[in-house]
Amino acid sequence: MKRLFLALGSWLLAIGLYATTVKSPNGTIQMTFSVDETGRPVYEISYKGRPVVLPSHLGLELAKDKHASLGQQEHDLMDGFKLEKEDTSTFDETWRPVWGETATIRNRYNEYVATLSQQWREVVPSKPGEPRLAPRLRTRQMNIRFRVYDDGVGFRYEFPQQHDLNYFLIQEERSEFAMAGDHTAWWLPGDYDTQEQETQQTKLSEIRDRMQEAVNWTNSSVAVFSPTGVQTSLQMKSDDGLYINIHEAACADYATMHLELVDAQTKNLTTQLGGGSNAYTPHPQPSSYPLPKPFTFVSHLTPDATGLKGAMQTPCETPWRTVMVSDDARDMLSSNLILNLNEPCKLEDTSWIHPTKYCGVWWEMIVGKSSWNYTDDFPSVKLGDDAFPNSQLSIVNYQSSKPNGRHAANNEKVKRYIDFAAKNGLDEVLVEGWNVGWEDWANMWKRDVFDFVTPYPDFDIEMLNNYAHSKGVKLLMHHETSSSTQNYERHMEKAFQLMKKYGYDAVKTGYVGDIIPRGDHHYSQSMNNHYLYVVKEAAKHHIMVNAHEATRPTGLCRTYPNLVGNESARGTEYEAFGGSRPDHTCILPFTRLQGGPMDYTPGIFVTKLSEWSDNTSWARITIAGSLALYLTMYSPLQMAADLPEHYERFDDAFQFIRDVACDWDDSRYLEAEPADYITVARKAKGSDNWFVGGKCDENGHVAVIKLDFLDKGRQYDCTIYADAKDAHYETNPQAYTITKKTVKAGQTLKIKEAPGGGFAVSLMAR
Ligand code: NOJ
Ligand code: CA
Repeated sequence: MKRLFLALGSWLLAIGLYATTVKSPNGTIQMTFSVDETGRPVYEISYKGRPVVLPSHLGLELAKDKHASLGQQEHDLMDGFKLEKEDTSTFDETWRPVWGETATIRNRYNEYVATLSQQWREVVPSKPGEPRLAPRLRTRQMNIRFRVYDDGVGFRYEFPQQHDLNYFLIQEERSEFAMAGDHTAWWLPGDYDTQEQETQQTKLSEIRDRMQEAVNWTNSSVAVFSPTGVQTSLQMKSDDGLYINIHEAACADYATMHLELVDAQTKNLTTQLGGGSNAYTPHPQPSSYPLPKPFTFVSHLTPDATGLKGAMQTPCETPWRTVMVSDDARDMLSSNLILNLNEPCKLEDTSWIHPTKYCGVWWEMIVGKSSWNYTDDFPSVKLGDDAFPNSQLSIVNYQSSKPNGRHAANNEKVKRYIDFAAKNGLDEVLVEGWNVGWEDWANMWKRDVFDFVTPYPDFDIEMLNNYAHSKGVKLLMHHETSSSTQNYERHMEKAFQLMKKYGYDAVKTGYVGDIIPRGDHHYSQSMNNHYLYVVKEAAKHHIMVNAHEATRPTGLCRTYPNLVGNESARGTEYEAFGGSRPDHTCILPFTRLQGGPMDYTPGIFVTKLSEWSDNTSWARITIAGSLALYLTMYSPLQMAADLPEHYERFDDAFQFIRDVACDWDDSRYLEAEPADYITVARKAKGSDNWFVGGKCDENGHVAVIKLDFLDKGRQYDCTIYADAKDAHYETNPQAYTITKKTVKAGQTLKIKEAPGGGFAVSLMAR
């Protein structure tokens, strides 16, 4: 009987009718896998019987390159596959993140692994005059592993070690995601070097027409690749109310994935690079596989300097490709699918990792009132001495140079920030511009740009750290690499030793400008290896990392929880570069935050920058809205970014920033709609206190908060920081009210949010 069954299975398989369906633990999500008549793997996903991903192909095109073990005879991992074996299993485990939105996370899924084999006849070249050699039969194995959760599906390719698949080069990964309709999408232009654009909201069919204006051409490194290329995490909504999100998890030793939409005008998919300041065209290769139908996204990896997408050695695997889905937008925000698909924590001791609230000598440089550099004396800077021992270069002498009078990282100012942090219970003070080299740091493709150990003459590193420690505060280190990764890797060990010597335990890194080695891109396999190398080396020194301009996170902070933050999107700095739309922060939690926390640097109280500088830009947010971001933009690292004197002007509102936690035992998303509003309640870790925040777009919102998450029978001192009646992000951003009352479970708060505003509530248990 069994034999008959298997025979029937292989016959069905041969004619392309055999398919396996796997359901999620509660049955709402269903994934179906098959191999089609040409041997291409196909999957589809549905939610409560509604299509999410229509039948879509999976596979990889490989480069026929001398560096691959099969060289010119390399064969794509696209078709000709046979389903050899299927394995299913279930998993259910609850784990405790080192920091996070909840104290525990349940990881429950049904797993399916398809073991696929591929055979082809390799033509063996014969020498001239010698008899033709018989073709050699090659066989190799590729597995596709699916994990089907109640909130989505993850899948990845796995390549066991084997004779016929050993070293290979990825020309392009061709994972397809065929959408069931012309969904609304919140998207960023696909770009190999920046994620600092405003999000576009269009139908899928409108992406092509919007692309040109969507590109942030002003960024210091731009490389767009296709008129329909977009980034992940991509949030969509179908006309019938399904929220669908495509992203990736555990992207390590692999290039970051973008998505290229096939629309009615798409003629071909290629690996060709497009325009941009750092783009060139090394290997334009049209794909020889059939074009999928319109509204299909196809994976598009970030190339390195060779134009190729990945150099692999078996055994190895790709990152997980994730599709999250729900008919309730709040589930998109509370999902832990991406963290769950990452490996458990690899650090033995995590006691030194801590949530951090910080302020910094930062905003006044971003706004342009003061400078990172110390002097304007030098036409250019060549660093010599200890940093570059073999250098014959002239050494600039900072000691005898004339200070420009605008250098912010000076002893007096840093002490002022330390005093402010100590007085207000902030843990750390970031100081940027403390080290030599800022005179010509950006966009020069200059390799030896910083040494990360030599302070400017007016920054007494020992005195300032001692001063900070005497007040219970730490300084937060800054390593801007200017994207010169070679230089950073060369100096990193000494730089970390210097940090430990003076008592720093966290570093903000940065990757402004085009990558050195030249031709590489911010999100390539080699750069992703660099970012992770920095995190792992930092962990050895018990240093937490917050990387700006690095690749977008994919949940690796579960495995390496010293990766406490990333920028990897358009942060508050853009409020000084022309501003961001008021709905920006109502989108980011659906997109950028899916992979991990963002160092958004919230807290701007004086939003019209011309009030205190020559900068005419302004932040499109009210003060109450700024307070809300400490809750709606989850991060274990939260900055109070404005100047101390601005917080002193609004000290009663600043009380919320003093009080709010940044690590949580529980989080409940109460209201959410992408680009419109988000309301969340969070319970502070190890305490009975709750905090609630709501942020809305330019249209305002009335939040209705049922206090049913509070302990029954208990009273709470409730402070509500709300927009005043006439508050408005443009005309009246500083109008807020503070109301105090006693509340208990079962009651409801109704809070009006102004256009571009929000609210914050603290609920202190009695
Ligand atoms: C860009 C970062 O996002 C910003 O925070 C930093 O101040 C500058 N680079 C300088 O490193
Ligand atoms: Ca940035």
